[in-house]
Amino acid sequence: CQRRPVIAIDGPAGAGKSTVTRLVAEKLGLTYLDTGAMYRAVTWLVVNSGLDLSAEAAIAELLSLAKIAIIPADSPENVTIVKINGQDVTLEIRSPAITAQVSRIAAQKAVRQQLVTLQRQLGMSGGIVVEGRDIGTNVFPEAELKIFLTATPEERARRRLKDLEAQGNGGISLTELTQEIEKRDYLDSNRSLAPLRKAADAIEVNTDNLSITEVTEKIIALYHQGEENQWGSL
Ligand code: CDP
Ligand code: CDP
Repeated sequence: CQRRPVIAIDGPAGAGKSTVTRLVAEKLGLTYLDTGAMYRAVTWLVVNSGLDLSAEAAIAELLSLAKIAIIPADSPENVTIVKINGQDVTLEIRSPAITAQVSRIAAQKAVRQQLVTLQRQLGMSGGIVVEGRDIGTNVFPEAELKIFLTATPEERARRRLKDLEAQGNGGISLTELTQEIEKRDYLDSNRSLAPLRKAADAIEVNTDNLSITEVTEKIIALYHQGEENQWGSL
């Protein structure tokens, strides 16, 4: 039985990864996995346990005892569902409090080891679009198609502000949000373990002036092109 392809979509916050990945998966009939949700879930666990966020050994132990269930989505309305010790935390992990701390947790070795193992298991038989920061460089370096989505920090902050306002979490200025996004990008890009980086063989798509539909279509065209070439170089 032939392995089905893996599509890796990486990039900084607000580049459009989740939105576009979901649509690409729907159009191509593939499963969708949001790995950011997994780092957010562990952050939620640590914050709620009352542990200090820098207590790496204690966090590793907490994590080794926790039951983390990840249910990849297979329809566009679905998000990646995350349950910790039986509790569905899918919505809570999106809160600004979790967003503010997630990069600190995502930099820790035991956390990454455990989550990357889980991600590789979930993607083992292919047929999946996986989004995150280190998918093309580290989690699935053999992915058939790798996309690196970018946009300026200002544009990404504008998009995020719209999302926050729609959720009733406005009340933050565009300048503050831009700074927050730049800080998270900095931490994610400069950590020692699997930092946010474009893989050498990833195709960069700047989304500043592209709509969601345009980005989705571009990725789907690249997918078909790759498939025709039997995943030789694009
Ligand atoms: O949706 P947003 O871009 O805000 O972030 P996310 O994709 O939910 O990821 C949240 C955080 O998890 C990132 O800022 C990274 O610190 C971490 N992350 C990571 O380290 N590696 C991944 N593959 C995915 C996320
Ligand atoms: O997952 P990531 O943090 O990379 O971004 P997202 O949550 O998918 O997208 C952030 C916001 O930007 C969403 O509200 C998208 O609808 C919007 N977006 C956009 O306006 N234009 C694009 N080309 C891509 C995303």
